[in-house]
Amino acid sequence: MNPFKPKIRRYESLPSTNNEVARLAALGAAEGLAVIAEEQTAGRGRLQRTWISPKGAGLYFSILLRPQILVDRWPLITFIAALSVSDALLEACGLHTDIKWPNDLLAGERKICGILAEVAETELGRAVVLGIGINLTSEAYPKELAGRAVSVAELSLRPVVREQVLAALSRALTRRYSQMQEPGGTSLIIAEWMGRSSYGEGKLVRVTNGDEILTGVTRGLENDGALRLEIEGGEIKTIRAGDVVQVRAEKE
Ligand code: BTN
Repeated sequence: MNPFKPKIRRYESLPSTNNEVARLAALGAAEGLAVIAEEQTAGRGRLQRTWISPKGAGLYFSILLRPQILVDRWPLITFIAALSVSDALLEACGLHTDIKWPNDLLAGERKICGILAEVAETELGRAVVLGIGINLTSEAYPKELAGRAVSVAELSLRPVVREQVLAALSRALTRRYSQMQEPGGTSLIIAEWMGRSSYGEGKLVRVTNGDEILTGVTRGLENDGALRLEIEGGEIKTIRAGDVVQVRAEKE
């Protein structure tokens, strides 16, 4: 598999970098086309949420991928994104992070990065628009989320240089994307994800998906990245979508 080098287009302001990459993908853009914006005026998160994106406060980045692996393994693309951000924040900022299933990056149990992968139908076939938002400063998230969100600047001992984070992220994505598409690559990505996530095994969590709420202990991942959850009575549920929160055992 030939590794690609992300080809980055820079914008002052966009509604959403994911929308811009989807627009360029529909026009036939090549894999690796990437977009970064200083601000987003209509940034989007998972589950139709808004991703607040003030000027200069975050890294708002999207990249076009045309994966060659089986479609049922495409959920793992968000895993390589999470691993790549984890690599990049360690390399560029000396910051250790945790990955919460499916793909939030946490630092000190607060969210520092979100990932949104969307499928785009294009003339060259089905593609993926992979969007990554990293909180670089505390202006990136609303004050009322301070207990649940955090930024690189608040935790890193080094000054945060956005270009260094971007360069490290580009390198990591290139490496991990080609790793995933090699023989045995998807199993390797799952193993590496398990090694970087405290949520993969043995964590008591509550999973909310619409009206359905399940509580149980995490028991690893399926081959396509679905979360295995052991509920009361020992039954294993397979979770393919939802919000996960850690449940703290009550003190006696
Ligand atoms: C989430 O945690 O809900 C995912 C957030 C993803 C935000 C990024 S910022 C760059 C890209 N453009 C968007 O509109 N969203 C993603």
